[in-house]
Amino acid sequence: MKAKLSELGSRQSPSDITRLMAIALERPDILSLAAGFTDNASLPMEDVGAIVDEFASSGVDGKSVLQYGSNKGRERLREILARRTENFDTIGIGKLDRSRFFVSNGSQQSLYLAIQTLCDPGDIVLVEEPTYFVFLEILSGLGVKPIGMPMTSNGDVDATGLARLLEEAKKGGWLARIKALYLVSYFANPTGHCVSQESKQSIGELLNQLDTPIAVIEDAAYRELYYKISDNSKSCLALDSFKELPVLYTSTLTKPYASGLKVGYAYCSDREWTDAMMSVKGQQDFGTANFAQAIVERALEKGDFDRHLDSLRSVYEEKMRALHDSLFEPLSSMGWEWSVPSGGLYLWLKSPHGLVTDAESQFHAACLEAGVFYVPGDLCYPEGRIKDRIRLSFGVLSCDLLKVAAERFVQAARAMTESARV
Ligand SMILES: Cc1ncc(COP(=O)(O)O)c(C=O)c1O
Repeated sequence: MKAKLSELGSRQSPSDITRLMAIALERPDILSLAAGFTDNASLPMEDVGAIVDEFASSGVDGKSVLQYGSNKGRERLREILARRTENFDTIGIGKLDRSRFFVSNGSQQSLYLAIQTLCDPGDIVLVEEPTYFVFLEILSGLGVKPIGMPMTSNGDVDATGLARLLEEAKKGGWLARIKALYLVSYFANPTGHCVSQESKQSIGELLNQLDTPIAVIEDAAYRELYYKISDNSKSCLALDSFKELPVLYTSTLTKPYASGLKVGYAYCSDREWTDAMMSVKGQQDFGTANFAQAIVERALEKGDFDRHLDSLRSVYEEKMRALHDSLFEPLSSMGWEWSVPSGGLYLWLKSPHGLVTDAESQFHAACLEAGVFYVPGDLCYPEGRIKDRIRLSFGVLSCDLLKVAAERFVQAARAMTESARV
């Protein structure tokens, strides 16, 4: 007999990327530019080892890191992270209410909790186009519909277009079903784009004019992962137009330090929403792993975290350059386009003449044949609307392997161009 699943259970299907990865894993010779994993070689094993030694040598007190923690997370860590956020946004120490600050199992958990506590099946969340594809998977898993917002040519949300969309929703009677608006605001996955402060302001102003509250979820996962210069635009937490709106700001210590520790954090400006998320978190895990939190807390206290992050910035810039430089000449002469990111882990490519690059495409097959693997960009659009984009991640492979992967990618691109000529 088979288990009889709930509605939610029956709605689930294996994620596209897991399915694609499984195909790639069958071919160990394949080089993956797909997974958004971090650089293995630079993971801070020695720092973490020294911190664990410190715990081990501090007797009974040290042992408490192996005890359960609290649902919201370690108080000291929350205080450090709250101050860090206040510093980024220059909003003055102590301005963010500590009771609305919580530690999560990666920022992924906060995103899930946010949607779970805001949306019922059939509700709508407004997203940038393109957006973080695993967020689209959360929506799909919870039966929530993503609607893409109109975008400007520089990658910001088009405020006039958004106003029109909200007006349409009002007239069509579906405005109340729009529960949230999701922004990946710094060195975004997949585009590397930073949302401008002006764009955020105008989004806030538009949402303020509505009778129905639409919550804003600002995902700042890559805020600290700039290469040389940070993006100085303030987060929604610090902008006037969001003062009266429910805002959830999420970020993470995974990408900038150790992804395997899986520690993320969030601040929510709305009391009831925070409480609802905390209740669900309590039911799920009653607290993110205390040991992992204690390690990042100590790394932040000792300065290891910032030292590591500093060195990581040049590691990723070098990797980005290795991939970009190897692709640039051959691909741009064939009409491929992309912008050079100044932070994050991805190149976002547009193929020439609308060449389809989705998982079913000839190009995807040609890449697999050549021994390289990418994330088809259609996964980053609601209903896979756009099919000529590709996300390449340079986080995992070494610079030498990135060059080999680039050669293979170019080989597949050339093969397609030649077959189009025949
Ligand atoms: C935009 C974005 N948000 C959130 C996450 C979740 O990351 P984590 O759970 O490691 O904090 C990721 C991971 O790739 C991401 O790219």
